Amino acid sequence: MIIVPTSNSQKLCRSVGEKLNAQIADKTVRRFPDGEMYVRIKDDVSDEAVVVIGNTRTDENIVEMLLTLNAAREASSSSVTVVVPYFGYSRQHKIYNPGEAISSRVMTDAIFLYADRVYAVDLHDEETLRYSSKPFENIKIVESIGNYFREHGIDYVVSPDDGGSERAMAISEVMGVKTFYLNKVRVDSRTVKMEAPDVDLKGKKVLLVDDIISTGGTIMKSAGIMRKKGASEVYISAVHGIFTNGSDMRIKEVADEVAVTDTIESGYSTISIAEEVSQKLREVI
Ligand code: R5P
Repeated sequence: MIIVPTSNSQKLCRSVGEKLNAQIADKTVRRFPDGEMYVRIKDDVSDEAVVVIGNTRTDENIVEMLLTLNAAREASSSSVTVVVPYFGYSRQHKIYNPGEAISSRVMTDAIFLYADRVYAVDLHDEETLRYSSKPFENIKIVESIGNYFREHGIDYVVSPDDGGSERAMAISEVMGVKTFYLNKVRVDSRTVKMEAPDVDLKGKKVLLVDDIISTGGTIMKSAGIMRKKGASEVYISAVHGIFTNGSDMRIKEVADEVAVTDTIESGYSTISIAEEVSQKLREVI
C-alpha cells in the first residue's frame, strides 16, 4: 500500500502511514502561469494499492483530488482507494426545489470515475452513499472523541439536536457517562427555539458534540443553554471544525475547551481520526 496525500490532509496522512507502516508518496502540486493546477505523483505507484487521503472542502481541494486520482490511475496502480475525511459538497443530497443540482451526487460520481472504493467520514447525510454501486462507506468517529475526553471528568455528553443524538450516545458509552439531546422547536417560519430536557446541570461538566461546526451558531446557542442551566464547565467538540468567518474566536469565549478532529486540520484539531481510518484500511487492503 502507498498513501498519496492531498495538500489539506498531510498530518492525517502521516499518522495513518505510521500506523500502517505505509509509504507516503512524494507529490508535486503547482500552478501553470495561467492559474491551472498541475499534479504529479513523483514516486512509482505502478502495481501498487494506492490510498488517496484528502478533503473535498473547497473547489481547489476538489480539483487537486481529481487530478491526484487521475495521476494514480494513469500510473497503472493496481487499485485506488479514497479516504475523504471531510466530504465537501455533501450538504445538498437531494432536490428541494426544481432546477437544483444534487451536489453530493456530483462529487460521488466524479470521485468514482477513478476510485475503486471510497470512505467518507461522518457524512452530513448517509443518503449520499446511495449514489454509487461501488463500495462506498461512512466511517463514524466515536472512539477517538470519547477517548480524548475520557479524563476530563465529564458528566453529560450532549447533542445540540435529535439528529446527532446517536453520535452523542455512542460517545457517552465510550466514556461511561450520561447523555441527552436538545430539542429544536419551530416557533415560526423564521425562528427555531432550542430546549433542554429537565436535567439538573448545576455544577456539572458538559461535553457538547456535533458533526459540523460551521458558523458556530448551533454550538454557541447550545453552550449558552448549558450555562443557563448551571453547568460549571462546557467543552465543545465536533468531527468537522470548519469555523467559518472566524467563528472559532467567538466559540472559544463560551467554552472551557474546543477540540475537533483532524478531518479538517487547524489549531483546534487535537483529536486524530487516524486510528479509525487505519482500522478500516487494514480490513480492506
Ligand atoms: C446540522 O444539521 C448540523 O448537525 C450542525 O449542527 C450544523 O451544520 C452546524 O452549523 P453552524 O455551526 O453553522 O450552526
